[in-house]
Amino acid sequence: MSRRYRIAPSILSADFARLGQELKAVIAAGADWIHFDVMDNHYVPNLSFGPMVCQALRQHAVTAAGQRVPIDVHLMVQPVDALAQAFAEAGADLISFHPDASGHVDRSLQAIKAAGCQAGLVFNPAQPIELLEWVLDKVDLVLVMSVNPGFGGQSFIDMALRKIERLRRMIDASGRDIRLEVDGGIKVDNIRRVADAGADTFVAGSAVFGQPDYAAVIAAMRAELARS
Ligand code: DX5
Ligand code: ZN
Repeated sequence: MSRRYRIAPSILSADFARLGQELKAVIAAGADWIHFDVMDNHYVPNLSFGPMVCQALRQHAVTAAGQRVPIDVHLMVQPVDALAQAFAEAGADLISFHPDASGHVDRSLQAIKAAGCQAGLVFNPAQPIELLEWVLDKVDLVLVMSVNPGFGGQSFIDMALRKIERLRRMIDASGRDIRLEVDGGIKVDNIRRVADAGADTFVAGSAVFGQPDYAAVIAAMRAELARS
């Protein structure tokens, strides 16, 4: 089955002193989405950026043809709801959160959708996915962590492949248009294995921003995905 693949570079690994230019460069290099790794130094032991940065970058998240590039916000924060609303107001297109960071997962999903954004759930490496069954009608995106959240540049956890396979079966059986995104340790040399397990959207931070030529890396990833 031919799947529409998406590359979502994470600006967590970009040069924070030049975020606007970095965003434009990675969009010009072919990024499909821009992944915002939001960290609060509470849910994860790191602190990144807030809604004001999203607000500032929103206007620049467009292609040369003027097409809006989706901002894919990954909230590694606790609690979830207030920041989710703030990111929705700041121009986020998708907002995903960790279910263990919300007291009421169904309500948090509803609030994100009511704010006009697509909603996603994020599963950490050791986390079971069973709760997804009870909110499958409310999620547009499932994000599988293939590293433990908090830092870019970590190694891919292979066990994530089994979770991706199980989620792919669950999503296909539901007949719903739900994107299956993977975040952490995605490189040119493993992206195909992750796609073959069933993923269709790939977060890549250090693999992209750690290289001088963003277009070359994204093209190499796409070539791997297209390889028969
Ligand atoms: C972890 C972050 C990272 C980041 C991707 O909390 O979510 O996974 O997006 O970083 P790389 O691609 O460098 O592993
Ligand atoms: Zn992320």
